[in-house]
Amino acid sequence: MGEIVFSGVTKRYGNTVAVDHVTLTVFDGELLVLLGPSGCGKTTLLRLVAGLEDLDEGEISIGGKIVNDVEPKDRDIAMVFQSYALYPHLTVAKNIEFPLRQRGIPHDERQRRVQDVMSRVGIAELAGRKPGQLSGGQRQRVALARAIVRDPQAFLMDEPLSNLDAALRVQTRADIVSLQQRLETTTLYVTHDQVEAMTMGHRIAVVNHGEIQQVSPPQDAYDRPANTFVAGFLGSPGMNLLPAALGEQGPDAGVPSLVVSGGTIPLTPELGAVARTAARFKAGVRPESLSVDPDGSLEASVVIVEALGAEALVICELPDHTQVVVRQDADRHRPGIGETLRIRVDPVGVHLFDAETGLRIEDR
Ligand SMILES: Nc1ncnc2c1ncn2[C@@H]1O[C@H](COP(=O)(O)OP(=O)(O)O)[C@@H](O)[C@H]1O
Ligand SMILES: [Mg+2]
Repeated sequence: MGEIVFSGVTKRYGNTVAVDHVTLTVFDGELLVLLGPSGCGKTTLLRLVAGLEDLDEGEISIGGKIVNDVEPKDRDIAMVFQSYALYPHLTVAKNIEFPLRQRGIPHDERQRRVQDVMSRVGIAELAGRKPGQLSGGQRQRVALARAIVRDPQAFLMDEPLSNLDAALRVQTRADIVSLQQRLETTTLYVTHDQVEAMTMGHRIAVVNHGEIQQVSPPQDAYDRPANTFVAGFLGSPGMNLLPAALGEQGPDAGVPSLVVSGGTIPLTPELGAVARTAARFKAGVRPESLSVDPDGSLEASVVIVEALGAEALVICELPDHTQVVVRQDADRHRPGIGETLRIRVDPVGVHLFDAETGLRIEDR
């Protein structure tokens, strides 16, 4: 049972709080993705699990056993880094065999397990090469094989794809997912890349400033972000966030709308009902819920248009200089830079957040 449990875990470096009271369970057999910007504490969280750092507060358990005082070598986990960390003087086969030697596993069993894992990861033909004679993708496969070969309780992966080119990254991403599904080994996977997070994990944990912001299946975090940080971080580009106030309508004036710089944002009746409970908000709208439309309720001026092939991003500015990104099919008319246009907002795509706390206001 390789469940990993963080309970109130805090790690400081001098005045920097790298990990701030993190409570999180990675279920047995799960692939959980830790997602957050550079410097938010992802690597520190992994190093705490691996025992490469001591924690200041809290507890970590692996497979039901508290490991705070357990030596790294006795934690029965395997780490895969972005830098591969292969021994340059050893062949591929010897690199993979290394952790088995360290554990005193007999020669014949070592050979059998190395052969088995090399064929599973698709690198059998590379057995005799040294790391210097391999491509980046091949090296990462060897590093994966070396992690798998010991059959540990858990894998810790720290941005393992970031040194690979785009095509190889997509392929290796799929390989890691299918491998993890077959092995059913508990995996904590760190990335700052939200496409990896959306596509790989059973659940994602979004981290900022050492704190967990939201833990949920990736699509839930995208559809119902818990706060403005998650809203803005997930998605490419992220959700537009506009300072907004409740419109002037009285309680009988029908469905309220929000007043923002440059116009209004329509609300669904459900969201309108909860909007009456507060006065000031951040209104969140994803670029795909906006469209350029002469009858739109917002006026904005075009800052730049980014053509991405199948679609374009029309990046606009409201009168208060808040930036708003509109996603548009490539065959639509492209507005010119500096042009003033109107934007239609799909009420179904509107999210409300508390202006002070940034927390999501639920529509039911
Ligand atoms: N050994 C260290 N000494 C001092 N500060 C550190 C050390 N390792 C990490 N930090 C700081 O802790 C914070 C989290 O770092 P890290 O876990 O590496 O973030 P991430 O992996 O998300 O980019 C950062 O502010 C970083 O500068
Ligand atoms: Mg890191």
